[in-house]
Order: sequence, then C-alpha cells, then structure tokens
Amino acid sequence: MDGLVPRPVRVDPAPGVCELDDLVVPVVVDPAAGLPAEGYRIRIAPSGVHAVAADEAGKQHAEQTLRQLAGPETFRAANIHSGRWVLPCGEIVDHPRFAWRGCLLDVARHFQPKAAVLRFIDLLAAHKLNVLHLHLTDDQGWRIEVPEYPRLTEVGGWREGSWVGRPPDGTEEHDGRPHGGYYTTGDLREIVAYARERAVTVVPEVDIPGHSQAAIAAYPELGNTGAALPVRTAWGISEHVLNAEESTVAFYRRVFEHLVDIFDGPVIAVGGDEVPTVEWREHAAARAAELGLSSPDDLHGWWIAQIAGHVAGLGRRPLAWDEAVDAGPLPPDTIVASWRGEHGGIAAAQAGHDVVMCPEQHVYLDHRQSDRPDEPIPVGYLVPLRKVYQYEPIPDGMPETVRERVLGAQAQVWTEHLDNPRRVDYAAFPRLAAFAEVVWSPPEREYDEFERRLVRHHLPRLDALGVEYRPLEGPRPWQTRPGVPGRPR
Ligand code: ACM
Repeated sequence: MDGLVPRPVRVDPAPGVCELDDLVVPVVVDPAAGLPAEGYRIRIAPSGVHAVAADEAGKQHAEQTLRQLAGPETFRAANIHSGRWVLPCGEIVDHPRFAWRGCLLDVARHFQPKAAVLRFIDLLAAHKLNVLHLHLTDDQGWRIEVPEYPRLTEVGGWREGSWVGRPPDGTEEHDGRPHGGYYTTGDLREIVAYARERAVTVVPEVDIPGHSQAAIAAYPELGNTGAALPVRTAWGISEHVLNAEESTVAFYRRVFEHLVDIFDGPVIAVGGDEVPTVEWREHAAARAAELGLSSPDDLHGWWIAQIAGHVAGLGRRPLAWDEAVDAGPLPPDTIVASWRGEHGGIAAAQAGHDVVMCPEQHVYLDHRQSDRPDEPIPVGYLVPLRKVYQYEPIPDGMPETVRERVLGAQAQVWTEHLDNPRRVDYAAFPRLAAFAEVVWSPPEREYDEFERRLVRHHLPRLDALGVEYRPLEGPRPWQTRPGVPGRPR
C-alpha cells in the first residue's frame, strides 16, 4: 500500500491480500459517511473490498487508488492481464488538502489536437487533479470557434510559421511551416463533458486586453491602429492590444457569453496579464480621458473590470492573472492567479480575493528541468522535479488571517516550445505527479521518499499509460532538440 501517488492522508496496511476476478469494485457514494469533500475510504480484506466516497469526485479518486493498488497494468487502455487481480489488505482514508488542484494547458501557442486534450484530462484524473485551465487565445492563435465571428478561427486560428528556438540560442526567423487548429463548439462541449465525467472542471481562458494579436489579425477594428496584422509568429509579448472602443467591449462580451454557454463550470478566466500600454499612450489618450481615467495605462484595469464584471453578471466567477490586482478594482468574487511569484497572491488575499497560487519560479512546467546542456529549449527558471515537489502553496509571508483564501495551486504547461503532445509529456511528467502530491497530500513531504515511490511504482504506471516523461537521469536522445548550439545534433 506504500506506492500510492498522490500519497493518501492515512494508510493502515494489514496482512494478507484480496484476489479479484475483475477490478470493478463498486464505490458507494454516501454523503453521510462523515468524509470531507472529495474524500473516500477503502477497506480491503481477504474476503473483499468495501469502498465508500463522500461524493462523485471521491468515487473517482477511490477508483484511481484501486487501480494504483492493483498494479501498473490497470493503466493500459485494454486489459492484457491474465489471472486474478491482487490487492494488498488494509484501510485507506483519504481526501484532498486543496479544493483547486489545477493544470493550465496552453493550446494557443501550439494547438493540441482534441484527442490530446482528452488524453491530458485522463492524465489529470489519474493524478487526482481536478481543474484544467485551457488557455484558448493568444497573440499566436485563436482556438475557439465563435459562430458570430468566423474570422477569429478562419484567420486567427493559424499562423504562417513559428519562431525557431529562443534567442540567443535560436533564431528570430520563423520556420515557414504553417501552424494552426481550433476547436468547434461541439469539440468544446465534448471536452467539458469528458472532463466532468472524470471529476475535472474546465476553466476556459480568453486573454484580454493583451495577448490579443490573433483576434486583431482577424478583425483589425479591434486594434488601436486599424492596420492589418499577421497572427504573431514570434514568442514574447505583442505590443498590439485591444482598443477601448465600446464596439470592442461589446464584441468581447459576446465572446464571453459564448464561453459561458459552452463551459458550465463556475469559473471563467479573463487573462489580464502582460499588457504593454505603448499603443494606448499613442492612440487612446483621448478615450482614456473620456472614460475619466487619469492615464491611458489605466485602460488595463478598465478592460479587466469591463469583462470580469460581465462574467460576474453572467453568474460566473472571473479568474484573472495577478497583474489585475495592481491594475484596478476587481469584482469582489474574482479569483486571482498568482504567477509572477507569491506577492501578488498575498496582496490579492489581503484585498479579499480568493487565490490560486501558480508562481513561475516553482510550477511553470515549460521551464527547464535541469541545467544539462542536452535539456531541450532551456527556457525560464530552473524547475527540477525536486523543486516542484518541495513547493508549498501557502507562502511563509502570508498572514494567518488570509490563508484560507488560498483555494489551491496550479501548474502551467505553456507551449511555445512544446509543439506536439510528446513534448508536452516530456515537460509535464513526472513533474505533474510531484505537483499532484503537493496539492493533494498533507504538507509534510520528504523528496527522497517520493522519488523512491515514483521510480518503483509510479513511472511504471506512466509507462503503461504511454506517457513519454523525462527520465530522472535526463532526456533520451530523441527528447533533446537538435540544431541548438551546444546541444547534440
Ligand atoms: C503568464 O505567464 N503570462 C500568466
């Protein structure tokens, strides 16, 4: 019973085993069982298995734990096991530490095919993670069909090429290979339903008022200059942001109404990060004054207030990146995602907002996993497996009185340099397994103990699932990236 990931709250092994002909164990949902939300209890005796859960999510978690106990073969897509399943005897009592156990998948920088998103949801559920934050729009692509505005996907859904590497290692030229894709309304409804069946809530993000060049390429009237722009082929942040005209706000209100129609979860993300104000200073000073703002820079907060207010009016909770706290007053129900570090989350909690911690220094899984020369695209902070495992979502500097504002934490898989699901696997795993334990298990953690459990028990499960994770000893020859100076060709 010692190989479970994430580690349960309480495990009491007992002698003996229980042998089963098949692994379909009924988990009884009993809200009166005295278990916390998402909790479950499993008793295994030689005579049989008795499992009870607080709710549907707890039932899913109990089923994942039973799979883990029965061995890695249970993670294959078809049963190739012969003989009986053998479960160790004992009792497990378990529930999550945090209600928000999230992972962001950026499907804008590199489109991830629908099948890959569904598979990613399976992987989240296998790790008892329960929020998929889908980053659906950015400068480099718009991935969500909005029937009223077909050019968003016809034009904004693809780009002429993608930046190769990352200066100074890469070049500033794009590769000349068109990249694109988008999800239809039906695809998105399917993703939402598939996730719901696995106790995963999808939080969609349309990023405003920056990170919007793909939308402006589709509809130049959304921009500040009216000039025709391409969908951006370079990474980094575009200076082309949304203008502050009432017609543009109305356009985005419709887009968010469409989102609310498709995504039935309680939270809708409005972005709000990394907003250059150069264009507003040049083109929108009069509009800012007309709106009663003291500077064009204040259009950042004004925009977030327009859209977050609209989302709140539609009965959902807005989620915004932490710049939004500095940018201006937010609807009180807004959840703040603290990505630039922990200070934004602390300030937001003190201002009365619920917070999801996702600091780039600890849980950005596109960032490099080691300083080895063969590590592919060594972007960002050094975020090795150990550092993710040792991450603590309640910051030391957060006053006791506001700690309950931390709903949980979220890992981020940005995909500038992850152009297919194999690369996503490499970046996400096994770090996401470590992260799952951070947000689920009690806070006392010992890395070496985790690593032993990971290698002995959990990597074989990832192998059975077909996850092309990064081996602990470093990338396999085909997982490095050729053609980057200092790295093998
Ligand atoms: C972000 O990484 N710009 C949220």
